[in-house]
Amino acid sequence: MRHLLSTRDMPKETILGLLDRADQHKKTPPKPNLQGKILATCFFEPSTRTRLSFETAMKRLGGDVIGFHAADHTSSKKGESLQDTIRIMAQYADAIAIRHPLEGSAALAAEVSDKPVINCGDGSNQHPTQTLLDLYTIRESQGRLEGLQIALVGDLKHGRTVHSLLHTFNHFKPRIYLIAPPGLELPKQQLDELKAHGIMFSCHQTLDSIVPKLDIIYCTRIQHERFNDKIEHAELVKPYRITPELLEPAKPNLRILHPLPRLNEIDPAVDKLSHAYYFEQSQNGLYVRQAILNTVLT
Ligand code: NCD
Repeated sequence: MRHLLSTRDMPKETILGLLDRADQHKKTPPKPNLQGKILATCFFEPSTRTRLSFETAMKRLGGDVIGFHAADHTSSKKGESLQDTIRIMAQYADAIAIRHPLEGSAALAAEVSDKPVINCGDGSNQHPTQTLLDLYTIRESQGRLEGLQIALVGDLKHGRTVHSLLHTFNHFKPRIYLIAPPGLELPKQQLDELKAHGIMFSCHQTLDSIVPKLDIIYCTRIQHERFNDKIEHAELVKPYRITPELLEPAKPNLRILHPLPRLNEIDPAVDKLSHAYYFEQSQNGLYVRQAILNTVLT
């Protein structure tokens, strides 16, 4: 694996190989395999988990980190192109982790970088490292990836974590329930791709009647920064907000995932239920990113 840009067409063996490698990192303390290597984190958009888990992963593997977490303090503020910024970062570092609001930005970066580029989110398009940690967490919590009943909930139009995750489902053939507020449904092109892969799905605006069937609820935030309409967040999420009452008819194995940050789509009272698994999920990001760094840098 040279760059990690997209989950589209990612072979099943590559995915499972990375998940197995992450498993090893979770079970045994990391060895300093990456001593002397430098990761550049180039974040043109806000981030907590993705950037800091990459930085922690790199340091735990013995490597070092340079980078920025806001474009304001770089020459892009003076008008420098993304390509030029990346060319320079590739001179200093051994790999580049990039997050940028433009769809396709990571691919643009990879065109000018002779060092591996890891896409940490490009607009509404892709977030492949999140997908790998989501799959890791699904497998960990259910004991398998195949044939699960999965609800994808929230802003399915703009959510890159959902878009990325869906591209891997052709390998695992889940039954999918798509729950979104009006106007924020999954784009037609993605629905067509699900059909083409023979993945069973249905579209809904509420969760109540579906809850008893589910193994996984993958909940997401309304991506308000990606559209101009003024939204009333609490009103939009009301029809599917996850509360202890909503979960009463759930199967014991149901686990709730969320890439975080969450706003009010999950009631904090859910945190103490056995179904809540989003904090384990974010912790798994560390092991998955260690596996990714070891793969692209050794
Ligand atoms: C996600 C993202 O940036 O797309 N966050 C993350 O990386 N954990 C989800 C989000 O911001 O809603």
